Amino acid sequence: MQSNNQIIRFGADYFPEQWPESVWEDDIRLMKQAGVNMVSLAIFSWALLQPDEQTFNFGWLDQIMDLLAGHEIDVCLGTSTAAQPNWLTRKHPDLLFVRENGLQVAPGSRQTFCVNSPVYRDALRKLVRALAEHYAGHSALKLWHINNEYANKNGMCFCRNCETAFQEWLRSRYETLDRLNDAWGTVFWGEKYFKWDEINAPRASSGARNGTKLLDYKRFISESIHGLYTEEVNIFRELTPHIPVTTNFEGDWNKFDHALFRENLDVVSWNSYPNPLDPKARYWAAMRHAMMRSLLGKPFMLMEQAPSQVDWYPVNVSKPPGLMRLWSYQAIAHGSDSVMFFQWRASRKGAEKYHSAMVPHYGEKSRIFSEIVQLGNELKKIREIAGTGIKSRIAILMDNDSWWTVDNPYGSGSKSLDNETFWAANGQPFPSVLIRYFDELQHYFNAFHSLNAAVDVIPAHYDFSKYDIVIAPLLHMVKPGFADAVETFVGSGGTFVATYLSGLVDEYVGVFPEGYPGPLKKVCGIAVEEFDPIQPGSGNRIIMNTGSNGFQKEYHCSVCCEVVHVTEANILACFGNHYYAGYPCITENRYGKGKAYYIATRPDEVFMRDFAKMLFREMCISVRDIPETVEHSIRSHNGQSYEFYLNHGCDEVTIRLPSGQYTDLLTGELCEGILKLEQLGVSILRRMKSNEK
Ligand code: GLA
Ligand code: ZN
Repeated sequence: MQSNNQIIRFGADYFPEQWPESVWEDDIRLMKQAGVNMVSLAIFSWALLQPDEQTFNFGWLDQIMDLLAGHEIDVCLGTSTAAQPNWLTRKHPDLLFVRENGLQVAPGSRQTFCVNSPVYRDALRKLVRALAEHYAGHSALKLWHINNEYANKNGMCFCRNCETAFQEWLRSRYETLDRLNDAWGTVFWGEKYFKWDEINAPRASSGARNGTKLLDYKRFISESIHGLYTEEVNIFRELTPHIPVTTNFEGDWNKFDHALFRENLDVVSWNSYPNPLDPKARYWAAMRHAMMRSLLGKPFMLMEQAPSQVDWYPVNVSKPPGLMRLWSYQAIAHGSDSVMFFQWRASRKGAEKYHSAMVPHYGEKSRIFSEIVQLGNELKKIREIAGTGIKSRIAILMDNDSWWTVDNPYGSGSKSLDNETFWAANGQPFPSVLIRYFDELQHYFNAFHSLNAAVDVIPAHYDFSKYDIVIAPLLHMVKPGFADAVETFVGSGGTFVATYLSGLVDEYVGVFPEGYPGPLKKVCGIAVEEFDPIQPGSGNRIIMNTGSNGFQKEYHCSVCCEVVHVTEANILACFGNHYYAGYPCITENRYGKGKAYYIATRPDEVFMRDFAKMLFREMCISVRDIPETVEHSIRSHNGQSYEFYLNHGCDEVTIRLPSGQYTDLLTGELCEGILKLEQLGVSILRRMKSNEK
């Protein structure tokens, strides 16, 4: 969609149904003033579109679609399926999802349905078919917006219906109970199953549960969510094959495996809500933008962000002047072709009335609206960036199975140091609650990103052969074929990095015998005998072995240490303390034309940066020397490149530009040599090709 249109989409979720028609004309006036060129409609309108089982009422939506078309504002049309109408729930109360504790959710909010409910799915198909038939030829319709944030609230369900569907899913996966019992290791604690219907949905029980069963249930629910999406997509492919589809993700990849969407999703979109109080918000957002870009390897859409504060933190601070603009450009810098918001006009009633909006309660004379108008009109100057890509030589691999195995698979996320809370929140024990899968990925991402290198974040089963450096932090589960792919990659000159607690288990969560990281032992040239998680506030020392190579003599490490034996590898550093003092901590193994590193702990940030710099030197990846508060990225297409400089700091900074002439797209000015950026300032520079001079 984006590349042909050469337009940066600017707009919001728009809920005209919350307002009298007299406000609609005013909305259009303000949208034109702000440069809005797309709005998402009908995200939660099922009850209005279908007031009872027999009746569809598209009148109000026709009216607003026509009005928008008349003013050349495109529509990303929602399917409204994230909140079913009360008449449906009333008629089929068993469509409400059931929590891990066995309690059924009460109606009264959104996303109360079970993703596998046949009656919900049946009603959904009728609605979506009616929408597709009705709007297929409408000139405003440019994109379908399927559902809304799958799994935000109903990401797990343990109802009877899901239980039966799970048994069917297991039958097709294992075929025989012998295979299932063997794969799950049910001989342990006498769990053996003699009939398929003995296998319950793994609700909370008296204590720890079978990790393989939990993982399979999570995989089953994840596929169910994608199956639900497929129900809608199939209808659009049949009736409106000319209209692309999207569904807006949350960025939290734990709830389901987003890679399942790879085959039948046209545009990746997501909702980005960094916390303005988080000093690392910039990194938080950068990594999630990178994940979205990497899913299909093309520009994505920032479908929602807050113009100022949200309403779902305990304390919802506002975004100070300039921050909304900066974070909007950050999304574009990482590959977004849109800046969209939740929502257009602040609601007066309902659950989200204190959430910020492009048009706040105060109206058009507000600070927020004037920042919106400024941004919307600026974006017109950078249209040519739409459709351009980002070239990355580095990839971080993420694997949902490892994530679900390391963390609580049901995503509640509350790993607590308090024993009682721990057991209530965690189905499966793990060596330490301080070990969090995603934190580890972010730790590595931050190191590379702080040096302004472009980093892709891709599912571990994607082809990674085109990258120069591939990092697989905390890859707890190593599935068949992965080690072969790594060996081929390293053998032909790539650099691979593995970390502690990797390669412990196979795809059935069975532990590999005779040393971790299991199938990766060969390429890493090491074998791990023991792991030793570290108490909070405590740690160990990384003592570097040889000449500096840009390293300090010593660093700190924490979270977990391991007892490592080298078989082939060189020892770059050893632990300084404890009974494994003097044992390897960081190793490097030459394998074919490349190298595999193993990091047997969680090193501090200083080490991480020095390590990243060393890898860059080895792979001839140049690092720009620019102030630390400045984020830099490059989008390019057909030899034309655009350099983004984003100052996240509170002081003006000066940046030395690489030689050449540039046009600053936002100011229209030519620049060369030195770039000054005010606090929260943004510059987007188009490099002049030599023949333009
Ligand atoms: C999510 C939802 C929106 C809205 C916003 C508020 O992203 O998709 O409908 O609730 O949160 O931040
Ligand atoms: Zn269910």
